[in-house]
Amino acid sequence: MKTVLITGVGRGIGRALAEKFLAENWRVIGTSQSGDADHHHEHLEIHQLDLRDAGSINGFTKVLTQAGTAIDILINNAGILADENETRLIVSKLRQNLEVNLIGTADLTERLSALMSRDGHIIFMSSQAGSLSDMDHVESSHAPYMYPGYKISKAALNMYMRTLAARLHHESTGVIVSAVHPGWVRTDMGGDRAPVLPSQAADTIYRLAISRPPTGEFWFNGEKYPW
Ligand SMILES: NC(=O)c1ccc[n+]([C@@H]2O[C@H](COP(=O)([O-])OP(=O)(O)OC[C@H]3O[C@@H](n4cnc5c(N)ncnc54)[C@H](OP(=O)(O)O)[C@@H]3O)[C@@H](O)[C@H]2O)c1
Repeated sequence: MKTVLITGVGRGIGRALAEKFLAENWRVIGTSQSGDADHHHEHLEIHQLDLRDAGSINGFTKVLTQAGTAIDILINNAGILADENETRLIVSKLRQNLEVNLIGTADLTERLSALMSRDGHIIFMSSQAGSLSDMDHVESSHAPYMYPGYKISKAALNMYMRTLAARLHHESTGVIVSAVHPGWVRTDMGGDRAPVLPSQAADTIYRLAISRPPTGEFWFNGEKYPW
């Protein structure tokens, strides 16, 4: 049985992804900030993880390392939109976005990269909001200057993804690295007006995750997305 590690499986896209992988007979290692989730399955284990807390990241990765865990797919799904209604940059909210979406995610990934299987795939949940060249086209019809802190965090995440992809390629690890935009998805973050259901986003991301695309690319609905 293959193993996928998904951050943030308690709700939203992460939960739908966990359900999809379980339905496809994968072992799912999931995380939530509480260490619990209100869905259960014999092949699902939930660990506590707070990406703002280096101690929590260290403790989680230590448990997996000591257990000799091999990860086939890592999906860095967990993320926040700390400045949803902001039209200008609020530095405290920029810090919050960066802490979770970039720094905690990168810290976790660096520690877990040693546990990846040789034909592994690391996926980062990015966003159209992090695209520099497509910033005037936002599905939710929000103005391009809205929630700048979130946008900065996802653009930075894309660059981390590319540097990681280049390193893992240089080291001939066989591990592929991808960023994906899930669409505008009906979750706590996406809101009620979002047209895409979490299960639909999960199906598309699952197909990407189990494929062997060229490393270091940004994807949306199975096609390359502009940086
Ligand atoms: N929804 C959209 O339209 C959309 C569009 C583009 C990109 N995305 C990206 O897709 C990903 C999932 O979004 P979503 O819509 O499913 O969001 P969501 O419903 O708000 O869920 C956020 C997830 O992130 C986890 N999380 C938040 N803060 C965390 C922290 N400090 N440490 C660890 N985990 C934390 C949450 O865990 P708890 O439940 O434990 O709090 C939850 O599982 C995010 O990276 C988001 O940026 C979403």
